Amino acid sequence: MTVKYKEKFRPQFHFTPEANWMNDPNGMVFFNDEYHLFYQYHPHGTTWGPMHWGHAVSKDLVHWEQLPIALAPDEHGAIFSGSAVVDWNNTSGFFDSGPGLVAIYTSADNYPDSDRPRQRQSLAYSKDNGRTWEIYEGNPVLSDVNITDYRDPKVFWHHETNQWLMILATGQTVMMYTSPNLIDWEFASEFGHKAGSHDGVWECPDLFKLPIDGDENKQKWVMLVSIGDNPEFKEGSRTQYFVGEFDGTTFVNDNSDEVVLWLDYGRDNYAGVSWSDIPEEDGRRIYIGWMSNWRYANQVPTKEWRSAMTLPRELSLTSTVDGVRLVQKPVEEIDAIREGSAVYEGLTIENNNSSYDLSELTEITVEFEKQNGTSYGLVIQSSPEEKILISYDVAKERLLVDRTVSGDNSFSESFAIVQEAPLKMKNGNLKLQIFVDTSSIEVFANDGEVAVTSLFFPNETAKQVSLFSKEGSTNVPVLKLTELASIWGK
Ligand code: FRU
Repeated sequence: MTVKYKEKFRPQFHFTPEANWMNDPNGMVFFNDEYHLFYQYHPHGTTWGPMHWGHAVSKDLVHWEQLPIALAPDEHGAIFSGSAVVDWNNTSGFFDSGPGLVAIYTSADNYPDSDRPRQRQSLAYSKDNGRTWEIYEGNPVLSDVNITDYRDPKVFWHHETNQWLMILATGQTVMMYTSPNLIDWEFASEFGHKAGSHDGVWECPDLFKLPIDGDENKQKWVMLVSIGDNPEFKEGSRTQYFVGEFDGTTFVNDNSDEVVLWLDYGRDNYAGVSWSDIPEEDGRRIYIGWMSNWRYANQVPTKEWRSAMTLPRELSLTSTVDGVRLVQKPVEEIDAIREGSAVYEGLTIENNNSSYDLSELTEITVEFEKQNGTSYGLVIQSSPEEKILISYDVAKERLLVDRTVSGDNSFSESFAIVQEAPLKMKNGNLKLQIFVDTSSIEVFANDGEVAVTSLFFPNETAKQVSLFSKEGSTNVPVLKLTELASIWGK
């Protein structure tokens, strides 16, 4: 018998459900010293099915405790994606005294005597820190018979106008609604007709404000929009974002319609949104994504469970020559699982490879300094036949993450691919921070300006890393290999 959490391919420092199928993160909220993570869950199988909300809590965003299912399908249908908030002032009237948690999610069924999907927004509330939930008897609270794709409500308190704000995915756009009490919703505006990418159905939006370059006097609103899989595009499902202004009614995009900004250049970061109610003293905007892709999510070669979440990431905005851009960094709490490091300094890499031993769970931080090499990078090797190649093409200014020979590719024609991100060196330097788990890598380049999140399914775990430089040399001022501990105990 295989030991729980030690099964083949089981991520060791990423959240996975103990068993069965998981997709989108839902209802992330911080309340009474706990980070809640709910998720799209099918408790009776390892492929997508009637959706429930699974539940886990954490004190530190790193170690998770699995809790019983929070919401199960009811007379209004399955429980699709949505959000949760702390109703601090009991605007909903659901709580006898003090604040409580309210979940706002999509009830998904079909129109009566029809196979046309029906998606309506519903509420549930909890008086005991999310341990048990009561379904609001007035559900659904928001519906529209004309719009079929009508889902994934993300709700937040809009301080400037003193009301609840909902952003909802509505086909090829998002719609904004406002409410005084989470129950009665009024249409405010629609965004997106021609803006950004329309390669797939819009899903799982989010909207929040962030300072630019840490300056609280210069703020912008960020809108996240996931776009679903469409066989016409090789990337499958992925997430875009917009930067602009929001006045409580209307979102105005800072960029022209043709500009498409990608949150992640890897194939495996989808449907991510941010935590609600992070205390003001903390002030962070913390994000987590589903680390898979609808193109092959139901086929990946794991047995006992399917899918993991990305590392939780702190989002910020930075100004660049091209405009304001989103930056993401793994949360600092990850420090809790860092163990011993090996540090190598002042290396010069010639054509020949130099190799270093790797523990199966590792954080690699490396800096490259351009000399005359035309491309440089590193190879993470699991066995002689299985490797991931991370390289930088100096002339093309592109970061490449190649998983074509990384392990089991047989489950989908779309899996054996090279992921590419546009990226400029900074004063001739490139910095990479790479998290290697048993079946995923997350690459953060130049302090999180670019992220590439990628699954891989090697038959053996990672064992070695080697550095290379092509057609000339590259300096490596520092290479640091830090062993990481499993979050599931020894
Ligand atoms: C995104 C999504 C959501 C939907 C949920 C269903 O991955 O398609 O739009 O609510 O998954 O599980």
